[in-house]
Amino acid sequence: MKKLQVKLKNITLKSPLMTASGTSGHSNEIEILRNSEKSLSALGAFVTKTVTLESRLGNPEFRIVETRTGILNSIGLQNKGVQSFVKNELHSILNFNLPIFDNISANSIGEFSELASYLSDNNLSQVISGLEINVSCPNIKRGGVSFGTDPKQVELIVKNVKKEIDDKLLIITKLTPNVTDITLPARAAINGGTDALSMINTLRGMAIDINTGEPFLGGITGGLSGPAIKPVGVFMVYECFRKISECSKKEIPIIGIGGISTWRDVLEYIMAGATVVGIGTAWFVNPDIFKDIHTGLKNYVNEKQESLSSLIGITHKKKPKNK
Ligand SMILES: Cc1cc2nc3c(=O)[nH]c(=O)nc-3n(C[C@H](O)[C@H](O)[C@H](O)COP(=O)(O)O)c2cc1C
Repeated sequence: MKKLQVKLKNITLKSPLMTASGTSGHSNEIEILRNSEKSLSALGAFVTKTVTLESRLGNPEFRIVETRTGILNSIGLQNKGVQSFVKNELHSILNFNLPIFDNISANSIGEFSELASYLSDNNLSQVISGLEINVSCPNIKRGGVSFGTDPKQVELIVKNVKKEIDDKLLIITKLTPNVTDITLPARAAINGGTDALSMINTLRGMAIDINTGEPFLGGITGGLSGPAIKPVGVFMVYECFRKISECSKKEIPIIGIGGISTWRDVLEYIMAGATVVGIGTAWFVNPDIFKDIHTGLKNYVNEKQESLSSLIGITHKKKPKNK
């Protein structure tokens, strides 16, 4: 369906829907889609869970707690490390025949370079379309959100990853909403050479068991996702599109993430300025989410006789509803 096709720099995606990192694993967890042709064809790209240089066990349990309008997680970037990912998991996702974006994180700038160099040396540009640099995880002691809230670190990390990768892979930088002004780390990532921005990762939060007074999560605090955070995500996409000329000129595309659970939510993100969207928590609730949203979008563009790309950022030309 041509009207749903979007371009992420030089990569054409047949649909604007991507998985949000960490919500469909590295390969096994998304196997469910293999049994559903329609769900798979609704996807434009697959984004892996974060991969790190060495394996990580993640945080103590409990790691997920439900809230009234979303979930709090404190997974702590559990994964088997980059070598195991390349050797044992990558081949499964390749069967999906979709562009793959490998989400990466590290404890230090040096480790980010090492990870990028490993991926570059192993000729992974033949199989992976790009990297999503996660400088926004709220659930780890070193790196993560502490990088993402410091524009200088964001710029350095992106610059160093870019140096190792050359122009072989598309670089997406994933931003944290745990800042006062999202445009500052966004600008820093662009200065560092990012090709695209994705936003938002989870918002810091916590939940307490009132019977005992204990925090529910093993990591004490966690990251909030799901419907509660959608207005924050839409606002942050809107702000970047409004204040950063590279975004409004669509030279730096934005991937909108956070709380999407219907096709209407996708349109909000696109009208705010996103080119592509990521869906995470909603998939835990509805295994047919990609198919359902794809059908809704298809009906919408057919009825309006418009392509999705023509709607990117249109809210910036509109006045508030009651004016
Ligand atoms: C259980 C869980 C694990 C996650 N793991 C990662 C991760 O490994 N790397 C990452 O960049 N984001 C991770 N995220 C954040 C999501 O990619 C996404 O940014 C966030 O959940 C907001 O989208 P949503 O409301 O659609 O879930 C995780 C989110 C959840 C709920």
